[in-house]
Parts: sequence; C-alpha cells; structure tokens
Amino acid sequence: MRIVLMGAPGSGKGTQAKKLVADFGYPQISTGDLLRDAVARGTEFGLRAKAAMDNGQLVTDDIVLGIIRERLAQPDASGGFILDGFPRNIPQAEALESLLAEMETPLDSAVLMDVDFDVLFKRLTGRRTCGKCGKVFNVYFMPPEKEGVCDGCGATDLIQRSDDKEETIGKRLEVYQRETEPLVEFYERAGKLKVVAADGDVDDVYGRLKSAVGLAES
Ligand code: AP5
Repeated sequence: MRIVLMGAPGSGKGTQAKKLVADFGYPQISTGDLLRDAVARGTEFGLRAKAAMDNGQLVTDDIVLGIIRERLAQPDASGGFILDGFPRNIPQAEALESLLAEMETPLDSAVLMDVDFDVLFKRLTGRRTCGKCGKVFNVYFMPPEKEGVCDGCGATDLIQRSDDKEETIGKRLEVYQRETEPLVEFYERAGKLKVVAADGDVDDVYGRLKSAVGLAES
C-alpha cells in the first residue's frame, strides 16, 4: 500500500501513521521528522531548513525532494509506505508523481485528515514529545499517566516542539491553506482522494482511516 496522509498541522497524521506502522508494518515517511532529525544532527540540509521550520514556513522544495528521493530508494519502502506531511504543495505532488512513475510504483490513495481549525490549536499547543523514545502525548487530550513522565520509557523530558508555540501555529495554518489545500483538488482529479473525518477519539479516526484505504477487516 502506498498512501499520502494530508491534513492541517495537528490533524493527526503522525498519530495515525504510527498506528498503521504498528499494525501493518509499512514505513512511515514523515518529512517533518526527517527534517527535525537533520536539524538535530546539524547537517547541511538541517541548517538550511531550521529557520523556515521555526518560522512556520515550508522548507524549500529542493531540500525536501532530495530527502524524499533518498528515503523512497531504501529497501523498506519497496513494499509500500505512508507519506506523512509530503507532498505539501503542487510542485511537490507533481515531483512525487514523476518519481513514482519512474519507480513503477503508483500511489494508491491520498487521504485528507479533515478536522475543524478550532480543534487544531489545542492539539498543537498541548502536544508534548518524549525526548528519549519519541512517544507523543497531549496535555489536554492524551496526557501521560504520571505528569511529566513518559509512559513508554519513563524519561522525564517531555518536550514542546519549537513550532508549536502560539505565535507560530497561526503561520503554519495560513501556509497550509495557501500551499497545501490545493492538493485536495489535485488528488480528486487524479481519482485518488479519500476524506476521513479526523475529529474525535483516536481509535474511531483510525477505524475510519482503515476503511478509507481498504485495510479494515471485513
Ligand atoms: P510536520 O512535522 O509535518 O508538521 P505538521 O504537518 O504541521 O503536522 P504536525 O506534526 O504538527 O501534526 P500531525 O497532523 O502529525 O498531528 P499529530 O498526530 O502529531 O512539519 C513541520 C515543519 O517541517 C513544517 O512547518 C515545515 O517547515 C517543514 N516541512 C515538513 N514537511 C515539509 C514538506 N513536505 N515541504 C516543506 N516543508 C516541510 O497530533 C497532534 C497532537 O494532537 C498530538 O499531541 C496528538 O497526541 C494529538 N491528537 C492526535 N489525534 C488526536 C485525536 N483524534 N484526538 C485528540 N488528540 C489527538
């Protein structure tokens, strides 16, 4: 299965991708995670990407496409993948189509995770990520059992992402509307668009997502 998960910041792309990885084993390819990793390691790509990310803007297409090209060529992506947060504008979507055509592995579906904008703000300001194992929590919706302590590994550094500050969230939502929303029509025209209502309980959303991409048990 080869799918794209699209949706506004905080729509649950990462949360749902991780559930698909756990149940079906397809690799999650998140450009956000790959870029944050490049920033943390101080690579040339990371240094070039950091300012745009901190400012809620998109990183330039040449950086992102270079990262994606390399990642899709890795052996674990040959049997399918979940693209999380890529593509994010029309040129990226067109580049992905060409790349997949070259590899003779066309995309199956592009899923829009559809959530009201007023829900997103709370999801983003409340997100905390374990600095050790990467488990994601939300202080409003999915808090750890013990405040400040990761349920997964017991670490005590639950970190707020630098772009989840209130002043940056508005910019990210604007960029999403301007750059990424046109992809809905792009994939609708290609006959690949699926829309999933992404409000409500995580497991209910997951059930709807699996049905939309044909992974639900009959
Ligand atoms: P990226 O990391 O992709 O961020 P994003 O698209 O803004 O999405 P998020 O990771 O914020 O949200 P999500 O939809 O994954 O939600 P999550 O599941 O975590 O990109 C970051 C930056 O990198 C960009 O701004 C840009 O600069 C750059 N970048 C990345 N890709 C790029 C590209 N292709 N081109 C150019 N630049 C690029 O959930 C959020 C919170 O809500 C969590 O706390 C979670 O626990 C909670 N939650 C999830 N589901 C539910 C639910 N159903 N109910 C209650 N809470 C929930």
